[in-house]
Amino acid sequence: MNEPFESIARGRGRVVLLFCAALFGAAGCLYPGAEVPYVQTPTEVVTEMLRLAGVNGNDLVYDLGSGDGRLVIAAARDFGARGVGIEIDPHLVAQSAESARRAGVGDRVRFSAGDLFETDLSDATVVTLYLSPELNLRLRPKLLHELRPGSRIVSHDFNMGDWPPSQTIRVTSRDRVSNVFLWVVPPKTARAR
Ligand SMILES: C[S@@+](CC[C@H](N)C(=O)[O-])C[C@H]1O[C@@H](n2cnc3c(N)ncnc32)[C@H](O)[C@@H]1O
Repeated sequence: MNEPFESIARGRGRVVLLFCAALFGAAGCLYPGAEVPYVQTPTEVVTEMLRLAGVNGNDLVYDLGSGDGRLVIAAARDFGARGVGIEIDPHLVAQSAESARRAGVGDRVRFSAGDLFETDLSDATVVTLYLSPELNLRLRPKLLHELRPGSRIVSHDFNMGDWPPSQTIRVTSRDRVSNVFLWVVPPKTARAR
């Protein structure tokens, strides 16, 4: 069993999801209301995303569509930040909270079950994404409206259309090469997007 399927099976009930995966593949296993499936960012990519964003002890990192909580937990455990995960699947939210407790960062992170488009992002200093090209574009006005100037956005694999990233890196993990994009939110007066 590969890594994403292992976690899906743990989080949501082995039988149903293995059946779903066998029929449709990982991309077909959408939680009701989810707009992209649950696929994990490889650990190496998690680290490089947080490093690229320059995450530190002053940051509040939001992962929108937080899956098993790995980005938020790593931000707290390895970079000293605080974190918030927003995830539509309540089983993954419960799994994330338990993993955070085990990692010893339960007091510095929070996971909420909900729709990322309905979440107020105004206190985030860093936002992490692994969604889709279409969702990134829909999210872009919200990010620019709610985040303060200087906030950083990092996205695994998907860009923001005609908003050019300030930096792009490639990260090799066990079975693939990922692109990671960084944007810095400009001052309000310079936001035309
Ligand atoms: C590709 S996974 C990324 C998981 C995690 N961020 C990571 O990088 O490992 C996308 C996640 O977004 C969640 N999701 C999809 N649509 C959502 C929405 N509208 N609101 C909140 N979460 C959503 C899915 O359930 C899934 O867990």
